[in-house]
Amino acid sequence: MYLENLLADAHKVLEKNWKDGFTIPTHNLYPFQWNWDSGFICLGHQYKDLGRAIQELNALFSGQWENGLLPHIIFHSENEKTYFPNFDFWESNVNPGAPHRPKSSGITQPAVHGFILENLWRNHPEDENFKAFIKEIFSKIVHYHRFLYQYRDPQQEGLMCIFHPWESGRDNSPLWDESLNRIHIKAGELPHYQRRDTSIADPSERPTSDQYDRYVYLLLLGKKYQYDGKEIMAESPFLVQDDMMNAILIKSNQSLINIGKQFGFDVGEIEEWQQQSLRSFREKCWNAELQMYTAFDLRGGKQICEKEIGGLIPIFAGIPEMEQASLLNEYLNNLHNRRYYLCPSFDVDSPKYDSKRYWRGPIWPHMNWMIYHGLEQYGFQETANIVKLDTLKLVNSLGFYEYFEPQKEKAEQLKTGYGGDVFSWTASSIIDFFHKE
Ligand code: DGY
Repeated sequence: MYLENLLADAHKVLEKNWKDGFTIPTHNLYPFQWNWDSGFICLGHQYKDLGRAIQELNALFSGQWENGLLPHIIFHSENEKTYFPNFDFWESNVNPGAPHRPKSSGITQPAVHGFILENLWRNHPEDENFKAFIKEIFSKIVHYHRFLYQYRDPQQEGLMCIFHPWESGRDNSPLWDESLNRIHIKAGELPHYQRRDTSIADPSERPTSDQYDRYVYLLLLGKKYQYDGKEIMAESPFLVQDDMMNAILIKSNQSLINIGKQFGFDVGEIEEWQQQSLRSFREKCWNAELQMYTAFDLRGGKQICEKEIGGLIPIFAGIPEMEQASLLNEYLNNLHNRRYYLCPSFDVDSPKYDSKRYWRGPIWPHMNWMIYHGLEQYGFQETANIVKLDTLKLVNSLGFYEYFEPQKEKAEQLKTGYGGDVFSWTASSIIDFFHKE
């Protein structure tokens, strides 16, 4: 049966990318440990070897800083040369609280670890090793959330913000265009650097060089202030309360509360964060005209009015009222009826849509995993099933790629997906979707 073969192949992907203690997203393009990738990767490890999921998270948190920051890349090896910006460009030790080893980047990524931990625990409720692991890791995840609320919430409203598009995980989303365009780089202002990604993946599927210059500019701004200084919030031209990252934080807060109550940990602080975050998110991030959630440009003082995949993730965190959830469900059904695979990462009717360029249109399997669970929670089982089946069809016909073509006619002409191949979270999403069948 082809599903069995696909599952076996998915496990082979994880095996291939396992590096003695953690899993790389894919060879060459991303040869270290990435923060939110690792979270999703645990979903796939848990069915064959729960111990690997524990090792994965331990390896990730070995890079946690004293201030609580959980970096977006952990450079367990200092010998890999295929990636820019490498550890020597980030120089994480400009911050005295960064571990000397492993080296890391100085920015973060979506806080998925709380909900991943709950998922693993619910699937293995009686595993004594896992219970012991929860007791160790719980306070580290809370410390990370505390970092987000202390260092990244300048207006103390319960909504964390980012100062670099890489933190959102959706590097070149059109959401960031206007903020990035505020950055004017003078000749000679940036040090010389060489991109590596465009010699590994097709450049037309990657961010542009103008965008890369701005990524480097913001990296250097962070470094100037040891990556956690208040001056970053004051100076950065890019300062955004991302709807997806805040929805994920809210989801993980709730998971920590659920776990903490069961294990008898004090969850008072998390409950306080949660109340304020939920209230502010509902007030600030819904856009009635778009009928969708939006990110908030804190520097520009306004919502970023685009239909983008991050606007669907609140359904996964249980944030919408039923009426709002129905509108999100309708949005997806409409795309399905127009012969798009679900869920394109950007508004297919926008001139900024680009079906093959990274986060400007393509479908991402781990995003589908979150949206599937959100739809299911609200009772939209039919749409949820379409999301799951579309993911299966794309991966089965085009391979374990990083992202995929949304337009059905176009996808049928293709032989592969886009971006990196043999991709870990694509495999994990498939494993978790279908392991019981
Ligand atoms: C990359 O290098 O493209 C990553 O997304 C940044 O972490």
